[in-house]
Amino acid sequence: MKALVKRYAEPGLWMEEVPMPQVGVNDVLIKVTKAAICGTDLHMYKWDEWSQSHCTPPYIMGHEFVGVAVEVGPGVRGVKVGDRVTAEGHIVCGTCRNCRRGMGHVCENSLSVGIFGKDGAFAEYVTIPESNIVHIRPEIPDDFAAIMDPFGNATHTALAFPLLGEDVLITGAGLIGTMAAGICRYAGAKNIVVTDLNEQRLEIAKKMGATITVNGSKGETVEGAMKQLGIRGFDVGLEMSGAPAAFNDMIAHMYKGANIAQLGILPSNTKVNWSDIIFNALTIKGITGRRMWETWYQMEQMLVGGLDLSPVITHRFHFDDFQKGFDIMSKGQCGKVLLEW
Ligand SMILES: NC(=O)c1ccc[n+]([C@@H]2O[C@H](COP(=O)([O-])OP(=O)(O)OC[C@H]3O[C@@H](n4cnc5c(N)ncnc54)[C@H](O)[C@@H]3O)[C@@H](O)[C@H]2O)c1
Ligand SMILES: [Zn+2]
Ligand SMILES: [Zn+2]
Repeated sequence: MKALVKRYAEPGLWMEEVPMPQVGVNDVLIKVTKAAICGTDLHMYKWDEWSQSHCTPPYIMGHEFVGVAVEVGPGVRGVKVGDRVTAEGHIVCGTCRNCRRGMGHVCENSLSVGIFGKDGAFAEYVTIPESNIVHIRPEIPDDFAAIMDPFGNATHTALAFPLLGEDVLITGAGLIGTMAAGICRYAGAKNIVVTDLNEQRLEIAKKMGATITVNGSKGETVEGAMKQLGIRGFDVGLEMSGAPAAFNDMIAHMYKGANIAQLGILPSNTKVNWSDIIFNALTIKGITGRRMWETWYQMEQMLVGGLDLSPVITHRFHFDDFQKGFDIMSKGQCGKVLLEW
């Protein structure tokens, strides 16, 4: 089969002819129809510091995908040939302390499809253990099924605290921030203010339901948005930029006693105005991955209920043109980029 292989420990990605994956007793062999390029894929493509310390070539990349089951191992009970499926990309051990208390997203021993420990879905076929397979309801189009992984990050973060009637600040209108704006709207937030430095991305945030967008590069401020809305601070903050300036802007504009869900990966040397956190009695919750499986049930319900993710998908390429997809991702002038066979 054809696959995009991270062959060498250097920048790049290579389309190769590789053997079909072996189907284990509890595995499902999936024919991939669409996959999506993630920010993490871009890190591995560029072979940055993070990739060098987490990934071991050679391996097939890709963890955001949808496809059809074409073969199942003899131990598989709940998946049939012909089922339309996607998968949770974190394969957990099921036996560590966290797995046993229902917190698989912080498993001690998890593998990550297409990142470390398990070949991924930038290929014609991928195998996934049945435990990680998610069936897709017929109402949910392939395009959305292919991006459940980052939509799950957005969902896990956005629904970390109650939203109904709350004023929400989202810093970072990347793929995840723009989807989070849609989730906040769906979940009944009152005002949703979204910040970024990129107008194209803020336009997507508006389409997804942002009340006001704030473009710092044009001199717009969170303070200005608060004046327009007549509010004294935000009840919920969703930090989705990983930018220290955005994080400090957030903690400076939260209402006393407010909650922040932190998804963005801040640099370890980020300076923090601790007084704002302490004296305003803020709660900050770190978010990783997707909750297994509550996040998946919540995602399914929002999509079936009419949440439309189409504004975030901006580009599509055939797998053979993967280079164009990675080039556009590198420039940042895009929302989600899909690759199709
Ligand atoms: N914790 C996890 O499990 C997890 C999972 C996926 C992604 N992430 C992280 O979440 C964040 C969002 O992911 P994404 O895929 O949407 O990334 P992204 O790069 O598409 O989005 C980040 C956005 O932040 C914006 N930004 C940069 N500086 C800013 C500033 N000062 N103020 C406002 N906006 C600013 C950028 O222009 C960009 O649009 C990233 O930091 C990513 O690494 C974490
Ligand atoms: Zn991803
Ligand atoms: Zn575990």
